[in-house]
Amino acid sequence: MSRGWQGRDVISVLDFKREDLEELFNLTMVMEKYSRSRLNILEDKILALAFFEPSTRTRLSFETAMHRLGGSTIGFVGEEATSIAKGESIADTIRMLDAYADAIVIRHSLEGVAKYAAEIAENPVINAGDGTQNHPTQAMLDLYTIWRELGEIDGLTIGILGDLKYARTVKSFIEGLTLFKPSKIYLISPQSLKPRREVLTILDIAGIKYEHVENIEDVIKYLDVLYVVRIQKERFPDVVEYERVRGSYRVTLETLKNVKDTLIILHPLPRVDELDPRVDNTKYARYFKQAAYGVPLRMALLTLIFGRESKV
Ligand code: NCD
Repeated sequence: MSRGWQGRDVISVLDFKREDLEELFNLTMVMEKYSRSRLNILEDKILALAFFEPSTRTRLSFETAMHRLGGSTIGFVGEEATSIAKGESIADTIRMLDAYADAIVIRHSLEGVAKYAAEIAENPVINAGDGTQNHPTQAMLDLYTIWRELGEIDGLTIGILGDLKYARTVKSFIEGLTLFKPSKIYLISPQSLKPRREVLTILDIAGIKYEHVENIEDVIKYLDVLYVVRIQKERFPDVVEYERVRGSYRVTLETLKNVKDTLIILHPLPRVDELDPRVDNTKYARYFKQAAYGVPLRMALLTLIFGRESKV
């Protein structure tokens, strides 16, 4: 049985069921109509945005979503702007945000911070990325884009290319895929960037077929979806290790010579050099559309968390 959305923390995609995501997707489609106008259903709500790590899309799409719904936001980017710089603990910072706002969105480089914050805060906590672990609302957005662009997720062959070791978006995307029935997942990366064992275990438990490959060219023709991520330079414990894999994969027009007509290419962004800008003008590119869906998706998410869906 689904527990529904109202008042829930969003720490990992696996806290949710397929029917929860389908409810979110259906409401997101309705929100697409309002994502360039206004729907005043959260006028009495304040969302706190606590970004201890850099962000463009996640932070600004949450902020835009809240404003489109008539709500307000408070927050900061970088702990140097907060009293943490004076020695205050994260726990005390969370207590303050919880006292001022009705929900908290948090991003931090440390794994488990969102869960820790959820234990402290009375109000819902939404994980906007904790180290290499989770980025659940990005995965919901990734899955929504596939569902919206291709009509379904079940039965698809999906390639995930890049830094599968450190990218939290990859872990969350894979977790999200286990709520559906993709026919096969190709994990495409250099040896040293293969997914961590814990991520493979998630696929094993779900019984989803997967295969490791090193070269995108070997499997591109089978794919319905190609999901690309950048090398997560800031997560490498050693720059030498980073220098060794730097530039080791790149999607170009050449890569796309022999693909399915219906292929879609996704990327959580930002991109660095792994995706040639010339690909942007092909019919396969959906990553900017994906980023744009971030507003209606987060509008739907906030509406559900605040239990206001009957007002839509
Ligand atoms: C991602 C992140 O922060 O994990 N960005 C995002 O939210 N779209 C991906 C990344 O930084 O590579």
